[in-house]
Amino acid sequence: MEAVTSTSIRELKKLFSGKVRDVYQADGDKILLVATDRISAFDVVFDEGIPGKGQVLTRISNKWFSMIDQVPNHLISTHPQEELPFLANYPELEDRAVLVKKLKRLDVECVARGYLFGSAWKDYQTTGEICGIKLPPGMKQAERFPRPIFTPATKAESGHDENIPFEEYVRIVGNEEIAHRVKEISLEIYSWAHNLLWDRGIILSDTKFEFGLDQESNLYLIDEVLTPDSSRFWSQRTYQVGTSPPNYDKQFIRDYLETLDWDKRPPAPPLPQEIIEKTISRYKEIEEIILSLLSHRAR
Ligand SMILES: Nc1ncnc2c1ncn2[C@@H]1O[C@H](COP(=O)(O)OP(=O)(O)OP(=O)(O)O)[C@@H](O)[C@H]1O
Ligand SMILES: [Mg+2]
Repeated sequence: MEAVTSTSIRELKKLFSGKVRDVYQADGDKILLVATDRISAFDVVFDEGIPGKGQVLTRISNKWFSMIDQVPNHLISTHPQEELPFLANYPELEDRAVLVKKLKRLDVECVARGYLFGSAWKDYQTTGEICGIKLPPGMKQAERFPRPIFTPATKAESGHDENIPFEEYVRIVGNEEIAHRVKEISLEIYSWAHNLLWDRGIILSDTKFEFGLDQESNLYLIDEVLTPDSSRFWSQRTYQVGTSPPNYDKQFIRDYLETLDWDKRPPAPPLPQEIIEKTISRYKEIEEIILSLLSHRAR
């Protein structure tokens, strides 16, 4: 299978290409979101794609969207070909494209965490807190928090997202009530998914949600949800407090990059075939687990 690293749909206007998704304008208030096989690390997109990764992400998100009933989501159709028949001419888009409501995105990353890792661990080591939340002293890397925390971050146009205090997050959202609801919903979905995955031997360390508003300020979950690109999954088998447990997404790529003398600035180095293959099999492993979760709204 060849990787799909760029798309072009003659019949639709391309609005924007993110690191992973191509976004097309459909009718007035709808957009077609297309997940490509592009992969990035340290915010640099590689030339090579990971064949099938976009489809894995799309199937995983669609599955979660069908299960999450804590908040409405942006999905209109997971079979956009029914509404846009010309998509039949683009077989490479199968399982990659969804038709969604075009919403006004809240320009914040809504991150829920159950474990001290990544940028939280970094912040903790220097300040003992994250996003203004004081944490117990003496915690170790990857240790579980007494209870999950909400750690919003900026959506940086370029460069790394930055963790921000709750007050600044509220300011960006622009509405106190919505900001509080988004926090509560993020924590609720995190805990719910954490429990479901726990029973399958998976630890959901942390995850990032995105939300949007319609004209009437109704809140929706948008973008992708609980995928390996937006979440950190660990296996209970290899999890150990005080270490960096292997994850279910870019572990092989990160490990490989560490062996190189690359300054983490563009251009990205080439990815060896072996790394590409290991990476896609990792994505498929977590896909299988998530797709096998019971579809009923187990809450
Ligand atoms: N329903 C929606 N309405 C409006 N925008 C959306 C919707 N769903 C997703 N998006 C946006 O579409 C883009 C998807 O592209 P992609 O995931 O590749 O972006 P990205 O590189 O991660 O960038 P970003 O940091 O902006 O998320 C994101 O900017 C996301 O916020
Ligand atoms: Mg994204």
